[in-house]
Amino acid sequence: MAIWNLGSINIDHVYRLDHLPRPGETLASRSYAQGLGGKGANQSIAAARAGAITHHVGAIGPEDDWVIDRLRDRGVCTADILRLPGQATGHAIILLDDQAENSIVIHPGANRAITPAMLQKPLSAMKPQDMLLIQNETGCQTEAARIARRAGARVIYSAAPFDIDAVRAILPHATILAMNAGEAEALFAAMPGDLPVQGLLITRGGDGAEYRDLVTGEVHRQAAFPVNPVDTTGAGDTFTGYFAAALDRGDAVPAALRLAAGAAALKVTIPGAGDAIPGIEEVIPFIANRT
Ligand code: RIB
Repeated sequence: MAIWNLGSINIDHVYRLDHLPRPGETLASRSYAQGLGGKGANQSIAAARAGAITHHVGAIGPEDDWVIDRLRDRGVCTADILRLPGQATGHAIILLDDQAENSIVIHPGANRAITPAMLQKPLSAMKPQDMLLIQNETGCQTEAARIARRAGARVIYSAAPFDIDAVRAILPHATILAMNAGEAEALFAAMPGDLPVQGLLITRGGDGAEYRDLVTGEVHRQAAFPVNPVDTTGAGDTFTGYFAAALDRGDAVPAALRLAAGAAALKVTIPGAGDAIPGIEEVIPFIANRT
């Protein structure tokens, strides 16, 4: 079994501030750091660090090989990441306040230059027992999801950044829809009634997470493990990547939620996004000692 991820890859530029700027306000940052991010890359790292065979399908500009090296170092299969001439690697400006909350602006760059033709070769290798992850930071999610469903694979779609038009287009091809609390609120307001997916994964930060099985009607809830957060960037991506990896290895939903909550809790104690995602060898002892 393998996880395939048509996912964004960003270079994150992170600025620490006393508070997030108000309109018209200029602030000097207390620190600056650069790291690996992108909702897709973060999810791939999480899935790989959880132990899943994880193929990242994506694109960067021609000059940022360190990004691919770092993904590979974290255990991600990178053979299907293209270097696109004339495109900039996607990047994100991340403003982080003292409460570990953030504001993010992304420039999609190469992530949005992916074409349907670029998906054919990698995704034609998908098997029925495989899984596809997609988010809203690349192009061609609907095409990828169609290929995956034709292969009989499950599709986990993270509706982030939230875009109702993208959600409407992709949802009929998704198996599980993953969202944070704000995205879920926006979705339920825009699309009241039944959703055409098997399950909803809703992460609520410090208030935990839930999985609504829309086939059986069951709702599984998982509390957040209490920690002192320093940076919440990528916590949701960590949760989703770990949750996917746990389902991929056959865990039941409650066990998958617990593992993912443990990984997300550890992530928020470390600054950074993709670079701060813990390995399963750290997550298992962490959750073993907690109720
Ligand atoms: O979810 C966090 C991620 O969002 C960051 O790593 C940033 O790159 C943006 O894609």
